[in-house]
Amino acid sequence: MNNTNAGLIVLGVNSVYHESSAAIVVDGKLLFAIEEERLNRVKHAKPANLDNPHLLPHLAINECLAKAGIRLEQVDVIAVSFNPIKRLVRHRNLTEACEPEGWGTETGEQKFFDRIMTIPRQLTEQGFAGQFMWVDHEMAHAASAFYPSGFDHAAIISIDGIGEFESASLGEGNKRNIHFNSIVDYPNSIGFLWEKFSKFLGFSEYDACKVMSVASFGDPEIYARQFEDLAHVSGNGFLLDAKTLNFRFENYSALESLFNIKKRNADEPLLEAHYNIAAALQRVTTKILLHLCETVYAQTKSKNLCMAGGVALNCVANTILFEQGPFENIFIQPAANDAGTALGCAFYAYNLIMQPESIETQKQEHTYLGSSFDNDQILSEIKNSNAFHIKLDNIEVEVARLIARGKVIGWFQGAMEFGPRALGNRSLLADPRNADMVRYLNSLVKHREDHRPFCPSVLTEYAGEWFDIKKEAEAARYMLMAYPVKKDKIARIPAVVHVDGTSRIQRVDSRTNPKYHRLISEFHKLTGIPLVLNTSFNDREPVVCTPKDAIKTVLRTNIDYLAIGDYLVAKDQASLDAFSLEAAVHI
Ligand SMILES: [Fe+2]
Repeated sequence: MNNTNAGLIVLGVNSVYHESSAAIVVDGKLLFAIEEERLNRVKHAKPANLDNPHLLPHLAINECLAKAGIRLEQVDVIAVSFNPIKRLVRHRNLTEACEPEGWGTETGEQKFFDRIMTIPRQLTEQGFAGQFMWVDHEMAHAASAFYPSGFDHAAIISIDGIGEFESASLGEGNKRNIHFNSIVDYPNSIGFLWEKFSKFLGFSEYDACKVMSVASFGDPEIYARQFEDLAHVSGNGFLLDAKTLNFRFENYSALESLFNIKKRNADEPLLEAHYNIAAALQRVTTKILLHLCETVYAQTKSKNLCMAGGVALNCVANTILFEQGPFENIFIQPAANDAGTALGCAFYAYNLIMQPESIETQKQEHTYLGSSFDNDQILSEIKNSNAFHIKLDNIEVEVARLIARGKVIGWFQGAMEFGPRALGNRSLLADPRNADMVRYLNSLVKHREDHRPFCPSVLTEYAGEWFDIKKEAEAARYMLMAYPVKKDKIARIPAVVHVDGTSRIQRVDSRTNPKYHRLISEFHKLTGIPLVLNTSFNDREPVVCTPKDAIKTVLRTNIDYLAIGDYLVAKDQASLDAFSLEAAVHI
């Protein structure tokens, strides 16, 4: 054991594919978690390549250690969310056609294995002297969903592209133990199905979100037959047509024949056929997930469902499977992608070693787990920049007024979110009543496609008045559910209603984010609208992490003001003068 009197210290690390990250669990409590991309400023931290799985997220690891006030030598356990031996063994008998020396080939897989196996040595050379542990990837996802859920007993679905060889696992969590009842193996992979179609539709493999929003414009019936052949439920899982999908080749000819349309290039317009393909993909995915829900419910008879893995970020499917499925409660790990496996494998190691009587201390109340900065640090960074600032006594009130006047605000407060969604601590905020705001934000601030919707952060107390919510879901606190907007409210908040009449909401409560809750409450008092438009605080780069990132982003974009700690920051004195003049009216 370490010499810190802190109980067992476990560092969880994810580096093998992408979304490299680190998390630290001290005495069963999740202390801190962060993605490397927020620190190295490279989206997804690194690409998922055969020759780089051993590149550890050193910046993220150092942040974890700093937060815990310890050195690497004092860490008791390091868990990595991958099992290289299992991977190598399972891929030995693969007969699939692959790119020469690529994924799935003997040479490629051996290289991948050899690189990963350097990880324990790297850590030892850096001073680590504790216990090292490989944790199966799907187990790390499952643990990231179960231990933080607060449920004593739950059904678990882990579903992504690929772990070592599995792509979906149905399991059960009971007290401190997790076991799997059934497994779906590669190449039957919903995660890869979405990656393949993301590219086929002209996006990158990371753009499932874009495909999901494109799907809302399409008719799922048009290509229903093609998708039934490509992916359908079978037994306890599902089967995919691996030959047509050709996951390990950058070849789309079979899909082009099947849909009678060429693969779209990124600069080509989206056609009706693209919308219809996306819609059919969304529908078959929802159908398969609903089947997995029914299966895992039959296996466990639990009323609670926990989910993780990249596919669990599909808010459209999540809402349907929860509202139409057999479960009463749902917890989805907010960092459902591979980043979350860092906290999952840390929790897994803790429970395996300590065998605690209760998992109560492990409940995740929120996902504000990353870096935070005090007013002194913030002021020093403002002074180092060319920005202008003013200190405010009640920044929530002033920012609510600015949003109501049509300004776009960078809202940087408290600890950074862990997971892909900005949830009111590293967010851009705007007025949901302004229909023009969508085009303005997409084209002039975020530089992204017009079809992508924006989300509302709504006061928990009013969510039911504005959205059709059939069952209360904790997952709605993390933008993981999409609900129809009440018919009589749609015209009042056009900037946050998608083409299909739904919104991917974040419910905000005063307990877990009081400052953000106060801001929205002030906006509600001014406008009668209990929600604001919330999008991530970034412009094509990873979401801002530090005050320096935030100030730089404001200085080079059309964001009007930055509200950071107690400071209001602007590009020029004229903007601050304009603010002061308006504020004086309200005194
Ligand atoms: Fe994964």
